[in-house]
Amino acid sequence: MNYFIITGTSRGIGAALSERLLREGNYLFSISRGDNQNLKEIAASRGAKLTHFSFDLGQISAIKGLMEKIFAEIDLNSAEGVFLVNNAGTIEPVGPLPQNDPGSIQDGFNVNLLAPVLLTRFFIEMVQTWRGTKRVINITSGAAQRPVFGWSTYCSSKAGIDMFTRCVTTEQEGEEFPVQICALAPGVVDTQMQAQIRERGEDEFRDVQKFINYKKENKLLPPEEVARVISWLLLSDDFPAGIITRIDEFI
Ligand SMILES: NC(=O)c1ccc[n+]([C@@H]2O[C@H](COP(=O)([O-])OP(=O)(O)OC[C@H]3O[C@@H](n4cnc5c(N)ncnc54)[C@H](OP(=O)(O)O)[C@@H]3O)[C@@H](O)[C@H]2O)c1
Repeated sequence: MNYFIITGTSRGIGAALSERLLREGNYLFSISRGDNQNLKEIAASRGAKLTHFSFDLGQISAIKGLMEKIFAEIDLNSAEGVFLVNNAGTIEPVGPLPQNDPGSIQDGFNVNLLAPVLLTRFFIEMVQTWRGTKRVINITSGAAQRPVFGWSTYCSSKAGIDMFTRCVTTEQEGEEFPVQICALAPGVVDTQMQAQIRERGEDEFRDVQKFINYKKENKLLPPEEVARVISWLLLSDDFPAGIITRIDEFI
């Protein structure tokens, strides 16, 4: 059996990825605050296993307990692969830094950076000596590579994910049974996050018109297309271990 731990499964890229991975022989652990009834119906109809955790990834002190619950369900003796996709993310807070709510800054870093770091930490601890396929994909952003007016928390938390991915790669290179890890920027994707981005004023987010135009000109990728690439990468012989990569390398 292949086991998949996916965050941010209530909508967007995470929901589309979960739909693809729900098939016989797979066991999916979905994590988000909101539920996704559609995934339950798909799992039942395809004979896939699904356990949902309604969990706020801002509550970073509870992540150890969450991973213990998940790994209590995973039978490493019979598993082929164990996979973690750190997909959940938030664009908030948007606006120049002095206008950002301090609590929202903390939540942004917790969800975008600290939660993936801790999930990966416990994941590696639990599988380090296991010989099967074990992989982590961190969903990053092009915004990790360039400053954006009004996105200081988002850009810097995603830049943190990229460097974290590279550091863990360096550590795993010395291990007998390394965990493979990469980061993937999904492009501009037609999800609720993009709708939230288009709603902001230019005083908060200077590039807003550019993103309104992307939508008008039909330049957004469907989440299903991104999900197709991620699900292919997870099981691919060409897994881009140690690489910070972008969706357009694969479509
Ligand atoms: N869309 C784009 O154009 C784009 C571009 C570059 C990178 N990305 C990245 O792609 C990933 C997915 O984004 P998306 O576009 O699919 O966004 P989305 O439609 O807004 O979905 C975000 C997901 O993250 C979950 N999430 C947010 N805060 C959470 C929290 N505190 N605890 C648990 N789960 C939480 C949400 O679930 P709940 O609200 O139910 O908790 C939801 O399932 C993110 O990492 C994002 O940064 C997206």
